[in-house]
Amino acid sequence: MTTNGIRIAPSVLSADLTRLAEQVAQALEGGADWLHVDVMDGRFVPNLTFGANMIAALRRLTDKPIDAHLMVVEPERYIEPFAAAGASVFTFHPEATVHVQRQLEAVKRRGMLAGLALNPGTPLTYAEEVIADLDLLLVMTVNPGFGAQSYLPGANDKIQRVRSLLTAHRAQAFLEVDGGITAQTIAGAHQAGADTFVAGNAVFTSADPAREVQELRRRCLVTV
Ligand code: DX5
Ligand code: ZN
Repeated sequence: MTTNGIRIAPSVLSADLTRLAEQVAQALEGGADWLHVDVMDGRFVPNLTFGANMIAALRRLTDKPIDAHLMVVEPERYIEPFAAAGASVFTFHPEATVHVQRQLEAVKRRGMLAGLALNPGTPLTYAEEVIADLDLLLVMTVNPGFGAQSYLPGANDKIQRVRSLLTAHRAQAFLEVDGGITAQTIAGAHQAGADTFVAGNAVFTSADPAREVQELRRRCLVTV
């Protein structure tokens, strides 16, 4: 996986699970680069979703990178099962575990890219302390827990500050944004410095998910 260019990562949280394979195929046909899986435990966030069985099911559908976003307490409990199920990226929140740096190393040892996610209220210093260990830094542009929320007004400023932090440290990590990404908000996030874009509701409630993925990418490219 290269750090150049733009990646669109549709979140299956918003897919119609009765037609998961079909909807994933539509997103991939539109050029989706990664598939994003939102894992929620009803503790770290007030909602329950998927486990490693969803990763395994998606892995049977595609060879594309599977981008697991763990909104769970003690994410270290899931490193091994997610790696075994075929996850490519494993991102967790620093408040959810005591030994952040140890878990980043454990993720990489299992052959996955290691990501850290910052909630809107989480300071950048959490990431700065471990910046050399990060393959990916995820900026939450909504408070996590649910799809289809609105992009927060302060999000672009935070993305800019994260981009400056990565540049200052000459870090090559992906800068991913997640929450409220639509054809209206994606260009601002891209201009602010994001390179990887999660989109759930925008893609999977569209009548034409393939076209929506193409449109999201186009909106980034016209602002370059
Ligand atoms: C939020 C999740 C997001 C969410 C994005 O808790 O981490 O990945 O599914 O969904 P949309 O694009 O609908 O805001
Ligand atoms: Zn997510």
